[in-house]
Amino acid sequence: MSARILVLYYSSYGHIETMAYAIAKGIEQTGASAVVKRVPELVPEEAARRHNFKTDQAAPIATPDELADYDGIIIGTGTRFGRISSQMANFLDQTGGLWAKGALIGKVGGVFTSTGTQHAGQELTLMSLITNLMHYGMTIASFPFSFPGLSEIKEITGGTPYGPSTIAGPDGSRAVSQNELDGAKFYGKHVAEITNKLVS
Ligand SMILES: Cc1cc2nc3c(=O)[nH]c(=O)nc-3n(C[C@H](O)[C@H](O)[C@H](O)COP(=O)(O)O)c2cc1C
Repeated sequence: MSARILVLYYSSYGHIETMAYAIAKGIEQTGASAVVKRVPELVPEEAARRHNFKTDQAAPIATPDELADYDGIIIGTGTRFGRISSQMANFLDQTGGLWAKGALIGKVGGVFTSTGTQHAGQELTLMSLITNLMHYGMTIASFPFSFPGLSEIKEITGGTPYGPSTIAGPDGSRAVSQNELDGAKFYGKHVAEITNKLVS
């Protein structure tokens, strides 16, 4: 049996959105199905336009209750002052009912992130997301060093053993790099392979 995996994200400027679809590609390589959804925007429309948010994102909006419908859930958000975005926190804060029922226990969980600069919160954001998933009782899939690009130091690159990542640049102008895209795809495949084994 193959798994059904949700890639759930929040992205203001599109970097996390790009990573989400790269992860989905990796998931699909294993025969598992990937569903990419995002959480609702909380910033008023006028402010989002003024700050050049990427408002044309095709992914449908997820509902908190649907988390129970998947075998695995991979969550991504950009860093906000070294922590997760309020948009993602708001969504996750609506899952108390699922937590109370134990509806997510044993599902496979993974995380990914993006920061503006290299050392301003990647690990903190990822670990904070992981903490959330552990409260749900989920089984966390790491991003193993068998992906060679995780050891890359010749170029600026995201990537951590806690989950894949990208660096958007201080003004958001840096595109997700090939190494980061490859890492995201590798991670999606890795999480899906684990999840496929658990559901079979
Ligand atoms: C309010 C705010 C706070 C931010 N805080 C940080 C931060 O602490 N460290 C950092 O490196 N980047 C920070 N950033 C940059 C974002 O992390 C970056 O824009 C995001 O990762 C890009 O992903 P996206 O294109 O998917 O939105 C911040 C951005 C905003 C708007």
